[in-house]
Formats: sequence, C-alpha cells, structure tokens
Amino acid sequence: MSDVEARELVYEGKAKKLFATGDPDLLLQYFKDDATAFNAKKRGTIIEKGVRNNAISEVFFRLLEREGVPTHFVRRLDDRHMLVKRLEIVPVEMVVRNVIAGSLAKRLGIEEGKALPEPIVEFYYKSDALDDPMINEWHVRVLGMATQAEIDRMVELTLKVNAVLRPFVAERGIVLVDMKLEFGRHHGTIILGDEICPDTCRFWDSSSGEKLDKDRFRRDLGRVEEAYEEIARRVGA
Ligand code: TMP
Ligand code: ASP
Repeated sequence: MSDVEARELVYEGKAKKLFATGDPDLLLQYFKDDATAFNAKKRGTIIEKGVRNNAISEVFFRLLEREGVPTHFVRRLDDRHMLVKRLEIVPVEMVVRNVIAGSLAKRLGIEEGKALPEPIVEFYYKSDALDDPMINEWHVRVLGMATQAEIDRMVELTLKVNAVLRPFVAERGIVLVDMKLEFGRHHGTIILGDEICPDTCRFWDSSSGEKLDKDRFRRDLGRVEEAYEEIARRVGA
C-alpha cells in the first residue's frame, strides 16, 4: 500500500479501522463494507461500500480544504485506505439538518420532507453503550467534553461544511437533507475528522426524492449498493 506502512490497530469502529503509521502524527483509516444501523441492532454488508465511502470522502474533504475548512484528510492511498492526521476525538456527534427527516421527524411527530427555513445544529453524545443520546451544548461544556471556544468553533465549522457541500451536491441533482460530523483536536486545534459519505449524510435525488444513502439499508428499501455508486458517480469520486 504505497509508501505508508500500517502498524498496530489503534481503534476499530463499526465502519472503519484506524492503524498507526511510522509517523506519530498520522493514522491510516481503513474503510470496511460492514454496515450497521440502530446502534448495531441491525447488521449487514454493503458490497464495495468502503471503496465508495473512501472515494466520496476524498472528494468532500478536498473541496472543504479548498474552502478553508481544516480536516484530518492528508491523501487517499488506495481503494480502502486514507492517510489522516491523528486526532483526539471530541466525543460529540454534530448533526446539521436542512430538511426534516429521521430522528427529528420521529421526535417531533412531523412528516419527513419539509425544508427548514434555516439549518438546525444538534449535539449527540458519542456512546454506543447509551445509544448516542441527544445532548445540548451545556452538557458538552459542563461535563468537560469540549470548551466553550471549541463548541463555538465546531458549530461554526459544521455550518460552514453544510454551506459548502449543500450547493456542491445541489448542482449534481442531490438534496443534502442532513449529515453527521465529528471533530477532534490535532495539536490542540479543532479540525474535522471521520468521513463524509452516504453512511453519514442523507442524500435525496432532487427531482424524484429517491433516497441515495444508508436509509436504503436502514429501512430495507433495496438497491443499496446502487445508491452509493450513484452518489460516487455524481460527485466525481
Ligand atoms: P438521525 O436523523 O437518525 O438523527 O440522523 C441524522 C444524520 O446523521 C443522518 O444523516 C444520518 C447520520 N447519522 C450517523 O452518521 N450516525 C448515527 O449514528 C446516526 C444516528 C445518524
Ligand atoms: N448509528 C449508525 C446509523 O444508523 C450505525 C449504528 O447505529 O449502528 O447510521
């Protein structure tokens, strides 16, 4: 795999593995085909998902870097490996929504599909044991997950990522309904980590409304692989 050697496994999540490299500042991010939903109560495989998500994430990270969003992306090494900066992950999942869907629709009893007049940002505590409960910025600050300055920066960057990706995908016939972002500290500075792909975003076809993301797996809609392939094709991954 190019010039970078994968050393010990540092972390294994549901969709990715992180390996140490010879450089203490850098990690190898390996993209799996494993798919889970509802906190792993549902499990399966989406063929070639890892390859698609690695390529799609590369396109988005490069675009975001060009637009001034600091990310952990260094370069894509091959089909399933991305070289990234080592982060101390903030245990908060940032969700930004443009259209009502998913857990927001459920929680408030509103039908999916209504466009919001402005984006909504939400915080979730990253804990599989607790099913990622929704929290607010008071919990994040008072319980010491991040400082107020870090929270402000994460919100600013979350809105910026949304503002950059939304028109980019819109030009390609895709509605960015919502997405989940994770941030971490690299030498003390907050930067964007994780991946940005159909696992972590809701993408709807602009004309038909067809779901082109992991909801096809979560909700047993069929044509799951085709959806990932279609997003990769449209964004030029
Ligand atoms: P939600 O509507 O289920 O809260 O999801 C909001 C967005 O976050 C959606 O684009 C899917 C993404 N997401 C994740 O990436 N990981 C998760 O664990 C959850 C629950 C959602
Ligand atoms: N929470 C992730 C999802 O549904 C995966 C999981 O919960 O297992 O997108």
